[in-house]
Amino acid sequence: MEHGALLVLCVLCFQTGTVYTGADPNRIRNCSGSPDVSVDLDLSEPVRRVEPRFLSVTVDASLAQEEAFMYLLSSVKIRTLAKALSPAFLRFGGTRQDFMVFSPRRIHQDPGIATEPSCAEGELPSWLEEKLKTAWVRQQEVLLTGDLQRKYKAFNFTETTVDLLNTFSSCSGLDLVFGLNALLRTADNSWDNSNARSLLQYCESRRYRMSWELGNEPNSFEKKAGIRVDGEQLGRDFTHLRQLMSESKLYQDARLYGPDVGQLRDHRVDVLTGFLSSGAAAVNACTWHHYYVNGRTASLEDFLDPKVLDSLAVETSRVFQEVNRASPGKSVWLGETSSACGGGAAGLSDTFVAGFMWLDKLGLGAQLGLDVVMRQVLVGSGSYHMIDENLDPLPDYWLSVLYKALVGPEVLRIKAHEHSSRVRLYLHCSNPRSYRRGAVTLMSLNLGREAAWVQLPASISSSAVEAFVLQSEPPGRAGLCSRSVALNGQLLKMLDDRHLPVLRGAALPPAQRLSLPAYSLAFFVFREAGAAACRNR
Ligand SMILES: *[C@@H]1O[C@H](CO)[C@@H](O)[C@H](O)[C@H]1NC(C)=O
Ligand SMILES: *[C@@H]1O[C@H](CO)[C@@H](O)[C@H](O)[C@H]1NC(C)=O
Repeated sequence: MEHGALLVLCVLCFQTGTVYTGADPNRIRNCSGSPDVSVDLDLSEPVRRVEPRFLSVTVDASLAQEEAFMYLLSSVKIRTLAKALSPAFLRFGGTRQDFMVFSPRRIHQDPGIATEPSCAEGELPSWLEEKLKTAWVRQQEVLLTGDLQRKYKAFNFTETTVDLLNTFSSCSGLDLVFGLNALLRTADNSWDNSNARSLLQYCESRRYRMSWELGNEPNSFEKKAGIRVDGEQLGRDFTHLRQLMSESKLYQDARLYGPDVGQLRDHRVDVLTGFLSSGAAAVNACTWHHYYVNGRTASLEDFLDPKVLDSLAVETSRVFQEVNRASPGKSVWLGETSSACGGGAAGLSDTFVAGFMWLDKLGLGAQLGLDVVMRQVLVGSGSYHMIDENLDPLPDYWLSVLYKALVGPEVLRIKAHEHSSRVRLYLHCSNPRSYRRGAVTLMSLNLGREAAWVQLPASISSSAVEAFVLQSEPPGRAGLCSRSVALNGQLLKMLDDRHLPVLRGAALPPAQRLSLPAYSLAFFVFREAGAAACRNR
């Protein structure tokens, strides 16, 4: 802010009775009370690069408890929605994966001829989709009761579950990661691989390209199943799985991820360190799970609290500490993550306000060094889903589609100077599939109830801007818990089961300031930034 402008501003403020006091130039407020945010950024080189599939999604294994519900993945609507998130991983796992027993209906031995799944043939007829949706509402209650009582029983699944997962992922352009049951154990408490062996044989016979995991949140095996498995044993189990994979032509070079530990509290650190000491070499990435809050006690304010959002940094650095000690350079992923654990916070995790946790996790997670973030769940039980029980997209889905279209893997350095920490900013190169080289995408969260202005540095203020501003419908505080979201004022919804609307940005002329409406999430693409960091790729 120039001296003259400051002076005028202060005079005006005195006139309207608002007193500007601080000597801190970052604390300048204009007369209507909007805080200004100044930023430093570096366009010369990226800080780091994330996996191109950074934003990934999950389907919880609870969908397979009654195998019929797996057919929901053949819904035309779900496939249309999933396709727009490609490229991404699709992780199939969760608590119930450690209770799933492969029980094939037929005997499979010789690898057969690869049969490409026919995407059109496999589509779910609408009458069946309606039936399944209705039944799914009841099934969710059954699952929830099971979760509350922590009563989990082993159940069988057949070729159908694997077939439907593979058709879904290959027809949507997602890469399947299948979580194997780690609770099948021998008398000496090592992993019994016989069931996995038969599953791998079947998948190989069908030529399914997929990667693998083993066990979900092993730190709570004792609570869930009365079986204690320490980290070192689990690491040895992974080494055995890697051995098993190496015997297969198709899976000898396939990827294996783990150990999918829960948040690092108490003895969970031991599970992770133990695992790394004996199993780090077996995995291609080290996975852990993160939730900001507990779904049963979460409040609206938690979702807008910068301290809650910052907690991700503390927990991530603890994981890196362990990984860098045991296996320096190993890729670290959030193998399962969402706003609130325990199925999410109803009325919050499934509404517009959840987007603040989601976009911040994507922005901060990339900065902190995470390579992939798998969102629990694309579709399924709980209130943290991206697609609702009518198979319509929720606000976090639209946020994710925009992220995919606009954001590239190169993370750029940006620092926002602002007093209230209500504005959070992240910067990446733009997605090269959508924008020419040198373009950058600024992501913004305004957690506050006032609009804010971002002061752009000269390096980008001469570029035209494409703005994609998401606000709840209705906008403002009243809409925070709404399931509807508007892009640049236009309500977002599918055109029909096969088509999404074109997500158009609003063209803004080059400017020194950008306005962030209260309670908004936004992407600003600077097409002509000419960032050196984004030129050579
Ligand atoms: C102050 O901020 C508001 C946005 O809340 C904006 O409309 C107005 O133009 C700004 N005033 C000045 C002098 O910058
Ligand atoms: C699971 O399959 C096995 C055979 O593979 C069978 O003995 C068992 O009864 C089945 N369990 C259930 C619950 O259907």
